[in-house]
Amino acid sequence: MIKAFSGFEVVFLEIINSYFYLKFKENNMYRTHNCGELRLADKGEEVILCGWVQRSRDLGGMTFVDLHDRYGITQLVFNMETNSALCERARKLGREFVIRAEGRVEERSNKNLKLLTGEIEIVVNEFSILNKSEIPPFTIEDDTDGGEELRMKYRYLDLRRNCIRNNIILRHKVALEVRRYMDEAGFIEVETPVLIKSTPEGARDFVVPSRMQPRTFYALPQSPQTLKQLLMVAGFDRYFQIVRCFRDEDLRADRQPEFTQIDCEMSFVERDDILYTFEGLAKNLFRHIMGIEFKDPFIKLAYNDAIVNYGTDKPDLRFGMKISDLTEIVKNHGFTLFDTSEFVGAICAKRCSGYTRKQIDGLTEFVKKPQIGARGLIYVKYEIDGNFKSTVDKFYSQEDIKRWADRLKAMPGDLILILAGERKTTLSALSELRLEMGERLGLRKKSEFVPLWVVDFPLLEWDDETKRFYAMHHPFTSPKPEDIHLLEEDPGRVMANAYDLVINGVEIGGGSVRIHDANIQKLMFKVLGFTDKEADEQFGFLLNAFKYGAPPHGGIAFGFDRWVAMFGGQDSIRDFIAFPKNNSGRDVMLDTPSTISERQLDELRLKFREEELL
Ligand code: AMO
Repeated sequence: MIKAFSGFEVVFLEIINSYFYLKFKENNMYRTHNCGELRLADKGEEVILCGWVQRSRDLGGMTFVDLHDRYGITQLVFNMETNSALCERARKLGREFVIRAEGRVEERSNKNLKLLTGEIEIVVNEFSILNKSEIPPFTIEDDTDGGEELRMKYRYLDLRRNCIRNNIILRHKVALEVRRYMDEAGFIEVETPVLIKSTPEGARDFVVPSRMQPRTFYALPQSPQTLKQLLMVAGFDRYFQIVRCFRDEDLRADRQPEFTQIDCEMSFVERDDILYTFEGLAKNLFRHIMGIEFKDPFIKLAYNDAIVNYGTDKPDLRFGMKISDLTEIVKNHGFTLFDTSEFVGAICAKRCSGYTRKQIDGLTEFVKKPQIGARGLIYVKYEIDGNFKSTVDKFYSQEDIKRWADRLKAMPGDLILILAGERKTTLSALSELRLEMGERLGLRKKSEFVPLWVVDFPLLEWDDETKRFYAMHHPFTSPKPEDIHLLEEDPGRVMANAYDLVINGVEIGGGSVRIHDANIQKLMFKVLGFTDKEADEQFGFLLNAFKYGAPPHGGIAFGFDRWVAMFGGQDSIRDFIAFPKNNSGRDVMLDTPSTISERQLDELRLKFREEELL
């Protein structure tokens, strides 16, 4: 585990200023400098600044105006004694007015060392209003009074706030760094179409009706998966693209209906070649964006071990607190819940035996939330004096419980939290409980990063509801060569040549070695329940291409928004996207999705069903 540099933000601002502006100093009639640029060394210089009024203060005979722009804030001063008319005009400036001010750089008597420009101020001798502003609906400051909905409605004002703008600039820097690394590694960026064909696997497609071919639809790509494979057939050898993807699925903090991937594909490679190349990309980004050096190779964890030990295929390894399986040792003591449960698992929270009733009740409520799905929580307090106090004391002796504690490597002073039920849901609930305890105990530090590769995924997942297999990644993922023979006789046992990059509990990327043999691809479609005709209708273009010399190939796609948000220290990707959608998939600024005119519907030959019009 490595810690991020402290003072990152200051370094970051310095970079922005020098990088963007000083390099490209123009002969500009509007301004000589930006609002983040002037320092004590510029004292005495006559300058012109343009920007927005952040706030103004009248103190005795002086009026101070903070002028802000993308680069920073500079204090303007108007003096009632030396220029009363100008000062009167300055007093009337409203928040977010756009002005142009001319004046002289002077040393400030009251320095603000939190600001890069905090040692100077501009004594203004003339200014003009370039545009007025209505009173903004929320304060344009990092610590704003605007709620999420309001900020989204006026996103262009929200983007004026430093904290949001810096996120977007961080995004730009990460994109540049990705492109530089990929170019140096021989990858070519190729754009793929946005209007493609709807295919049945994965999430739901967003579809676009065709006017020229009535009754037919394009789909927006969930990812350019098949297209990048076709580029391998085309001999491009190494492709990448920073590309917009679209998925009509339930949204969460780290899921948007349109999001961006760093999509990559390579030919003539095996799994470890791909992991090596993209571990290089990850390390390079950490080095250049965060100043963090990872010397050792990333940990590789088999999917099954991840599930057994952490209850999830995207474990947060910043802390331990592994899950222990108690199913067998708790049975046959007359406690029905444990006796009848398929799985009983526990975690041990260090030094938490002093948890109060209220704190335990809070945890019980947490695990009972519908999205967590546990029926209740059993706890054991391993008291400092070595005794156990638990909710199940009637059924188990102190010696019985000692055996559980030993399995969990618990010590006096620890708190054991136990969940029981169906295996899959209980493991997943324990995973959530583990994260919650990690959060409460301050073990999920924003400045620490623990990347790992999760490998050896099963190829398929059985769905009880529809009684069929689904591809765990997607249908183009190659089975492990040694398991190909199982595809027909026992598909559930086939392992995939797939991998995910997980950092701090977030799935940052996922990919696989692909099937490049048309017959195995056809077999895969068959296992997934497609008839030959359906496979041909949906994926004929790919099966056809495989007839003309498809090289062995594989790749990965990273969630670009997630990566940037993680570098920015946040869980939600929304503030790292300039114009995001809300949790219902709405763009509240554009007010869309919205209706279209009758004429447009007619042109598309579309009609609503009667019941929808009511
Ligand atoms: P996958 O579906 O795993 O793989 O997507 C790759 C990565 O994209 C990110 N991601 C998302 N980010 C924000 N909002 C979403 N709705 C969203 N969905 C996914 C995740 C994820 O790891 N074609 C394959 C990749 C391959 O096999 O090469 C694919 O799309 O970080």
